[in-house]
Amino acid sequence: MRRLTLYARGVQQTRTRAASQTKFLLEESQLPRRWYNIRSDMPTALRPVLHPGTGLPVGPDDLAPLFPMELIGQEVSEDTEIPIPEEVLEIYSLWRPTPLFRALRLEEAIGTRSRIFYKYEGVSPPGSHKPNTAVAQAFYNKKEGRTRLATETGAGQWGSALSFACKLIGLECKVYMVRVSYEQKPARRSMIKAWGAEIVPSPSEETQSGRAILAEHPDSPGSLGIAISEAVEDAAAREDTAYSLGSVLNHVLLHQTVIGQEALAQMELAGAFPDVVIGCVGGGSNFAGLAFPFLREKIAGREIDVLACEPAACPTLTRGLFAYDFGDTSKLTPLVAMHTLGHDFVPAPIHAGGLRYHGVAPLISQLVLDELIRAEAYLQNDVFASAVLFAGSEGILPAPEAAHAIHGTLRVAKAADEAGEERTILLNLSGHGHFDMAAYDSYFAGKLEDVALDEDEMERALRSIEGLPSPA
Ligand SMILES: Cc1ncc(COP(=O)(O)O)c(C=O)c1O
Repeated sequence: MRRLTLYARGVQQTRTRAASQTKFLLEESQLPRRWYNIRSDMPTALRPVLHPGTGLPVGPDDLAPLFPMELIGQEVSEDTEIPIPEEVLEIYSLWRPTPLFRALRLEEAIGTRSRIFYKYEGVSPPGSHKPNTAVAQAFYNKKEGRTRLATETGAGQWGSALSFACKLIGLECKVYMVRVSYEQKPARRSMIKAWGAEIVPSPSEETQSGRAILAEHPDSPGSLGIAISEAVEDAAAREDTAYSLGSVLNHVLLHQTVIGQEALAQMELAGAFPDVVIGCVGGGSNFAGLAFPFLREKIAGREIDVLACEPAACPTLTRGLFAYDFGDTSKLTPLVAMHTLGHDFVPAPIHAGGLRYHGVAPLISQLVLDELIRAEAYLQNDVFASAVLFAGSEGILPAPEAAHAIHGTLRVAKAADEAGEERTILLNLSGHGHFDMAAYDSYFAGKLEDVALDEDEMERALRSIEGLPSPA
């Protein structure tokens, strides 16, 4: 009798599970045909980008040596929507629309009353959200006659994405990869080479910026700020070469908004709307990609908690200053108003290499100042514990960067349970961690160091912005 009851209960559970759909998929024909530009809806205008020499706003001519005119136009555009070129859509259709999952097994594993959904960007050929902008950038550069792109990469996801895009579109590509990641992730290097790009560890001997840093710090682990200096210098020195950035800039965040537009449609398929939208933030592009179309709803009056998750080792939004600063270490870029830890700050070599950036997208900074977005910072052992829990229930092994969003989600779900509330949570799973196994090995061996940025180091690094203009 008892066995029969158990069996009946098992069948009942299976039925309940089947009644809750796991994947919400869109047809290729439902791919968004426009990017969403949040600038047109923001309550506060962005501060102008300044020329470091004159202190005056930069114009298109200042940026033309580095970027094609179409991207410069998108950088300053106030249009609400910008059409996606047909050629870009064709390449997007190799992996887009990406799936949206209901994390039923994770919900069960943590015993939450909340519903958790995740948008999975790891199905792209390079394994993350990054090709959403890489393809667009390669397309406009090719259209305007450039034959080569130079870029930096942290974890290697962006370098892979740009080399993939350049290969498909027909451009040469040079990647400066942050040295610590270059050493931690040899398979990423091979992937970048497989798509035909040239790759060097940064700081390198190939640029003035790299040589200057090596002369002072021969063992420098590198940082995104340093690698950006090298790539910008490379691009500025060659007519045939443009610079390509994988995050931070307005046009990069714009290209990522296909993620959130798809997610809006998929949440509708699921008959749900999120109370909480969560993403990890390095420069801010995957977070913006998911969150901006939902922030459009929030600005229009809908109640949504929008949470940005960052590492405690590089707590740009939670502890940085909102100030004018350079985007790179060698001060080659214009000055942008953003949350910053100082352009010569070299974050501890945590395994979420893509989150090791001293600044953040100005669009996100402004939305944080306007209290439309809030931020939290986490230690890496906690983040990896959440990543392993996620892998054990949902199956997908997340990139360490994306695991910050998972950790944020688990915290939100726990807080809701403790308060006796039920939330609908949507997170961006920005990439898989198949090339991050050394990081998982270190975690399993108990060798991951928990680093929270030291107050003295933060004060030291912030001295580098003394004397720069301050935002009005
Ligand atoms: C998988 C993944 N997620 C997130 C990031 C962080 O970048 P962003 O803040 O621009 O999304 C990176 C950067 O390399 C990444 O590889």
